Amino acid sequence: MPLAGGIGLERLKAIAQLVKPGQPVADIGADHALLAIYLINKKIAPRVIAIELGEGPYQRLRKAVESSPYADSILVRKGDGLQPLEPGEAYSVVMAGMGGDTMVQVLGNDWDKASSFARFVLQPMSRPAALRLALAQQGWQLVNETLVRQNRYFYSIIVAVPGTHPYNLSPLELDAGPILLRQTGAVAQAYREHLRGKYQRMHSSLLRSKTSHARLLLKEVEDKLKELEVYWP
Ligand SMILES: C[S@@+](CC[C@H](N)C(=O)[O-])C[C@H]1O[C@@H](n2cnc3c(N)ncnc32)[C@H](O)[C@@H]1O
Repeated sequence: MPLAGGIGLERLKAIAQLVKPGQPVADIGADHALLAIYLINKKIAPRVIAIELGEGPYQRLRKAVESSPYADSILVRKGDGLQPLEPGEAYSVVMAGMGGDTMVQVLGNDWDKASSFARFVLQPMSRPAALRLALAQQGWQLVNETLVRQNRYFYSIIVAVPGTHPYNLSPLELDAGPILLRQTGAVAQAYREHLRGKYQRMHSSLLRSKTSHARLLLKEVEDKLKELEVYWP
């Protein structure tokens, strides 16, 4: 994943635009501190709590913050997910650049505590469907989704707020994002095209397999292709 320059910064800027301005932010998995530094430098957030889990990334984070001019506004903490935070200590919580399964684990460790934060900005690198499913099952609303594109990669950014009414998403909505699917514009269009290509390639390869599991998957991919047609202008 590129970190600085090009899409690395574009991705982080897109994330920064989705936090609530003027309110404290927690960045879980803050690593290089680029987002924390950007949020303070641009005066988007008055304070960022930057969290890292492993010793190596934590030391990198600490050094990056200490050598920046913003050490007074960025609080660096070591720990797992939301654990280093007091309930409600930040308004927006960002998790970016990690797998969707890791995000589900972080949230699932303590959904009650997670619900004490007003807004989550989530940018999964993999398994976004698992993340959307967990959010829907908890009744958390997806209030915004955006896409950032780098070459053939699309980064989905999901904004979710705690809620209590579970709801269903279709398999395509879980994969692609219910808001992204309905978005107009060139990037959203290219994203749907990318998805259709992906499902068509899966379809061809599943047709060659004779197992019962492959038949189940084939049906799922066919359903997704059909549903995708609905959003195809
Ligand atoms: C690939 S980096 C992404 C860095 C940055 N957020 C970005 O988007 O560019 C993911 C970081 O998440 C951290 N991480 C993974 N699981 C975590 C957890 N449960 N709690 C805190 N940090 C975690 C890793 O140590 C790693 O530094």
